[in-house]
Amino acid sequence: MIAEQNDKIKGAYHDSKNIYDGVLTQGNILSKAYIKFFWGGTDDIAITQRMLSFIPDEFSGTILDVPCGTAVFTDTKWKKLTAAKIICLDYSEDMLRQARQRLNGVGHISLCQGDVGVLPFESQSIDVVMSMNGFHAFPDKIKAFDETCRVLKTGGQFIACFYIRGQLRRTDWVVNHVLAPKGWFTPPFHTEGEVRKLLEERYSEVEIHTDNAILWCVCRK
Ligand SMILES: C[S@@+](CC[C@H](N)C(=O)[O-])C[C@H]1O[C@@H](n2cnc3c(N)ncnc32)[C@H](O)[C@@H]1O
Repeated sequence: MIAEQNDKIKGAYHDSKNIYDGVLTQGNILSKAYIKFFWGGTDDIAITQRMLSFIPDEFSGTILDVPCGTAVFTDTKWKKLTAAKIICLDYSEDMLRQARQRLNGVGHISLCQGDVGVLPFESQSIDVVMSMNGFHAFPDKIKAFDETCRVLKTGGQFIACFYIRGQLRRTDWVVNHVLAPKGWFTPPFHTEGEVRKLLEERYSEVEIHTDNAILWCVCRK
């Protein structure tokens, strides 16, 4: 089942590889209108920038960016963090290829293909896990919560944003009728209350914010 879902996800991100950045960065009037409608006016780009602002430019630990996608929101910040070690991981080779074009040759950044459900890193080896727009795409969300927590050091931070169900009818409708059937989003989707419980079971400090159908959080292990 998970293997089938992974194939569907790979196919979906293969098909959208040429339009992904344009739509997400609202590069034209149509994508601007779509994103505004989809998130109910919430500024999702501002949320990603807010999340990155939690990491100071002089940070010197290890950061895992999962899923890194094409690195469209992160490349400028990651390039600035020259004292850090940054690992960018994604399941889709099509997305990674574009991330490599942005980040290849930057000494403190490495990129790898992998599955968030079986992270190829030792337990307690990462200082910050950054997960932007990933949990609504991951097929096995419990494994993803478990694995991202396992690799974090005690005291390490989990910073994430993703879609949650039950906040905005129009977002739920588009997710259920378009994005999930295509494979860009993958059920089951959690509510804010469910996410809170999953995080509180794993982290000693949990700060959660919701803005329409986007949840973003900063947690400490
Ligand atoms: C909506 S994109 C977000 C990418 C990027 N963080 C961003 O904000 O642009 C979702 C990403 O999740 C990746 N993905 C889906 N399932 C995955 C898995 N099991 N392990 C790692 N990445 C996965 C997809 O390949 C895709 O690049």
